[in-house]
Amino acid sequence: MEFDKRVQNYWNARSKEFGDTRRVELAGPDAQAWQNFITSYLPKKKDISVLDVGTGTGFLAILMAQSGYCVTGIDLSKEMLRQAEQAAQMNEMSIHFECGNAQQLDFASNTFEVVVSRNLTWNLPNVTAAYIEWLRVLKPGGIMLNFDSNYGAINFATEAEKKENVHHKLDKKILWECENLKKGLSISQENRPQWDLQCLQRIGFVNCSYRADIRSMVHCLQNMQYDTLPLFSLCGYKSAQRNM
Ligand SMILES: C[S@@+](CC[C@H](N)C(=O)[O-])C[C@H]1O[C@@H](n2cnc3c(N)ncnc32)[C@H](O)[C@@H]1O
Repeated sequence: MEFDKRVQNYWNARSKEFGDTRRVELAGPDAQAWQNFITSYLPKKKDISVLDVGTGTGFLAILMAQSGYCVTGIDLSKEMLRQAEQAAQMNEMSIHFECGNAQQLDFASNTFEVVVSRNLTWNLPNVTAAYIEWLRVLKPGGIMLNFDSNYGAINFATEAEKKENVHHKLDKKILWECENLKKGLSISQENRPQWDLQCLQRIGFVNCSYRADIRSMVHCLQNMQYDTLPLFSLCGYKSAQRNM
């Protein structure tokens, strides 16, 4: 079966349990912490459009809509998007969700002021292609924020044996499928976020920077400490002169 189909199947199967966890995260203090962290990078004016790539069940999309931005969320998995739509409705937020691939976006160049993404890039066969697309759809002067961990460095299935692990109650078969998907990805072998920083600079992002570990800034609740590895943030801008 082709890779994207396997990824869709994997995340479709995870959507209900994943949505339940994100609902707790959205209702608790971590939501405010994430919102504060992200908006500290963003322009204060509100008539700006934000794209959340790999939105999943809509966590960042909902936070950005609650901050007053005009938000679009895309994801490869229809079931994750179904959860995202329900969560947006519950939170009375109007967000445009659609199915799409992070590495080949269906948007015109220069569409969004902001591109955000969380815990997606470890999952992609071609992270460079994704970053190139994110730069393309950004308006000149726009900002990209990516949050991720070097998940290629651990084994989810064996980590889940530990009682305190966030995946402990998940079906082990599903976790081994994730491991098999991860094993074939070149990003799993990279030294992150340094690799990402060099990639962003090479393809034309400007003023790029990263923070090596932001967990203490965005995780307040004990039961939301799901990141067993450092959670890094990456930031890059599209040159204000650039018109792609
Ligand atoms: C770990 S979840 C993160 C969801 C959300 N960003 C969050 O932080 O809660 C990864 C998401 O990426 C999506 N995904 C994986 N590959 C993708 C691709 N090529 N294009 C778009 N979404 C993708 C999955 O369907 C899943 O919803």
